[in-house]
Amino acid sequence: MKNKYYITTAIDYVNDAPHIGHAYEKIAADVLARYYRAMGNDVLFQTGTDEHGLKVTRAAKEVGQIPAEFVDIQAKKFESAWQNLNISFDNFVRTTAPGHEKKVQEYLTKIKKAGKIYQGKYAGFYCVACEEYKSEDQMEAGYCPVHKKPCEKISEEVYFFKLSEYGRHIEQAIKSDQMKIEPEARKNEVLSFIGQGLKDVAVSRTHVKWGIPLPWDQSHTTYVWFDALLNYLTGPKTTDFWPAHLHLIGKDILRFHAVIWPAILMSLGLELPKKIFAHGYLSVNGQKMSKSLGNVVDPNVLVEKYSTDAVRYFLLAEIPFGEDGDFSESKLQARYESDLANELGNLVMRVLTLSNKLKVKSEKLKVTTKNSKIDSLIEKLKFSEALTEIWKDVKAMNAEIDQTKLWDLVKTDKEKAKKYLENYLERIKTVAENLTPFMPETADKIKKQLKIGKTEILFPKK
Ligand code: MSP
Repeated sequence: MKNKYYITTAIDYVNDAPHIGHAYEKIAADVLARYYRAMGNDVLFQTGTDEHGLKVTRAAKEVGQIPAEFVDIQAKKFESAWQNLNISFDNFVRTTAPGHEKKVQEYLTKIKKAGKIYQGKYAGFYCVACEEYKSEDQMEAGYCPVHKKPCEKISEEVYFFKLSEYGRHIEQAIKSDQMKIEPEARKNEVLSFIGQGLKDVAVSRTHVKWGIPLPWDQSHTTYVWFDALLNYLTGPKTTDFWPAHLHLIGKDILRFHAVIWPAILMSLGLELPKKIFAHGYLSVNGQKMSKSLGNVVDPNVLVEKYSTDAVRYFLLAEIPFGEDGDFSESKLQARYESDLANELGNLVMRVLTLSNKLKVKSEKLKVTTKNSKIDSLIEKLKFSEALTEIWKDVKAMNAEIDQTKLWDLVKTDKEKAKKYLENYLERIKTVAENLTPFMPETADKIKKQLKIGKTEILFPKK
């Protein structure tokens, strides 16, 4: 029996088109999904789109469409961007899919039956961009500190979820690492938030029409975060994959995942996820990415210009995973030229060209031994360090070739040159093996070139 490995990403709001921030997370999750599959696990990799709520309703209105029509168009953009980036998801959950809606209603009914939902009235503030209720201390002079927009004052009938009952249990689960929160600094952040005491949270809204009706009171729709979080349970066709091994999300939505989500699971009597990892935020040329600044970067455009694997490589090599990072096209261009074209591409080209000259066959290359250091870095989500480790040998081979003047040696001492080349072919095969989860197409191309001895430029000059 294979080990199960269930990995999820956040499901993206469809109010706008996908950008590199969304892409960054999906690429990282994809590396893990591919890695665990290659290690022989039965992997379920789930992503999707979050399509209800006020934010999406207003975006639809802005373009003169009804929400149902709008979300269909938008969701396709996400799916197609992920295909463009070679994201090997197994499940794509759309929260407007009838199957998801039905299951959300079933879960809510269970929570209600468990006595954890009660009727009340919410009066306070709400940030539509976050789709989040804001207390006084979560605002700056009435503004959302994240979106720099005024929070809206709302007052409506809602149903509440008894979140306040779960603080101690959640704290315990986090402290004991029963549910790991990483990086460590984020774990401490969550613990200190819980330490201040948890308040009950609304599970429904009456002023928002675009949502899943509560099964016991059709005048309410499900609060969009309850609808969205439940995707982790509604998506898989069987329960075999629960608990999830990893929820990969951005740092901005950690509280929903590390506080509300475990409480929902506890109210349902279900196990908690094994790990939640909150990655950092990408800025663009030093600025927050925003529609109003006009600096939103479309991953499709980058793929078109630099290739899928170059974008995947750049984002994970450039920024230590877990930290915030900055994207700029000039840095992508520079790494494309140095790391990809000059180092990796050139190495493969030189070694294969010389091997062809001396008729060194790569067919009988030794089976590559896995580099356990790289594996362990990937398992710890230290992607940039794993890539640096892979590149160490790429750089070492290039330096050796320069030092031994291999292109001369091929003429002056064929036997010696052959020995070198055999060794390089083997090491390049290992590089390709280790690169597979990060750059699947490139790794395949290298392996194919090694097999048939045909050279092809991997990263054409831009
Ligand atoms: N719909 C919610 C998530 C529900 S999960 C049950 C949401 N959507 S989002 O579209 O705003 O964000 C989706 C993911 O993209 C989040 O994990 C978020 O952190 C991430 N990012 C959005 N902008 C980002 C950057 N600029 N940089 C890195 N990640 C970013 O939140």
